[in-house]
Amino acid sequence: MPDTAATRHARQIEAWNGLMGAQWAASEARTERALAPVLEALLAYAGPSPGQRVVDVGCGAGGTTQRLANTVGPAGEVTGIDVSAVILNAARARLAGTENARLELADALTWQRTGAPADLLFSRFGVMFFGDPVAAFANLRQSLKPGGRFAFAAWAALADNPWITVPLAAAATVVPPPPPPDPDEPHGDEPGQFAFGNPARVLRILHDAGFPAVDLRAFDFAMRFPADDLAQTAAGMTTMGNVGRLLRDRSEAERAQAAEAIAAVLPPYIQGNRVALPARVWLFKAHNA
Ligand SMILES: C[S@@+](CC[C@H](N)C(=O)[O-])C[C@H]1O[C@@H](n2cnc3c(N)ncnc32)[C@H](O)[C@@H]1O
Repeated sequence: MPDTAATRHARQIEAWNGLMGAQWAASEARTERALAPVLEALLAYAGPSPGQRVVDVGCGAGGTTQRLANTVGPAGEVTGIDVSAVILNAARARLAGTENARLELADALTWQRTGAPADLLFSRFGVMFFGDPVAAFANLRQSLKPGGRFAFAAWAALADNPWITVPLAAAATVVPPPPPPDPDEPHGDEPGQFAFGNPARVLRILHDAGFPAVDLRAFDFAMRFPADDLAQTAAGMTTMGNVGRLLRDRSEAERAQAAEAIAAVLPPYIQGNRVALPARVWLFKAHNA
């Protein structure tokens, strides 16, 4: 089957409804703690205010949706959309009783908002998985009021994120990484965690999707993991992003060996009761006409 935008998109939806989604839902509490600095930075950048209508795109297990609902208050409302049934179930449990939040199982590529257009589209790491990002952003823009904004966070390039490269290099001593991609094949538009690492590409996508102006800034922080049980922290890291992909089809024994190798490289990063690994994120704020 040819590798098209549609097949790449379908692969992502399948993954988020399969093992990757189950792992995300299972590690939700740990992930929410580690990603809290990004949520705070993005909220400050996006500036939602009481009474506003917000959409949380790729809302995941609902931590961001909950925080947005608290911020806009009872006069405002938040709609969380996500394409993963297993992850959205976790969000439903978290948001039961939050009256100004609703959740929809939907693909950002085709989702249509009902009711008044939103003041703000918001996403922490939920927008890098579209096979045709121009089409998905253009579709989402239809839900935004004139003058509204789409604020989102996306990981900077892999090389700027030692929280992945450090465990990945350790795991690669146990499980050799696949050969680098064929230089004659275009891989620049493969959706995934680091697909928006090059901000120039994202600015082009947003422009082509109809956003006339975009602000951008880097946000550097530390991904913090518990340091009291390094073996357990390292085991958790074996499911993260590129590390998870490297180990996905490997045996339990290889996974355990990789976790040991990861645990061995973490001590230099211990600060107090946390392992603190450097991370870099891009914050984008796209303005609707
Ligand atoms: C890395 S997680 C981030 C979740 C959440 N925003 C957070 O910060 O905790 C990415 C989320 O995007 C969702 N997602 C991926 N592709 C999507 C699509 N086409 N439409 C809607 N959601 C999508 C996934 O199911 C997943 O929950």
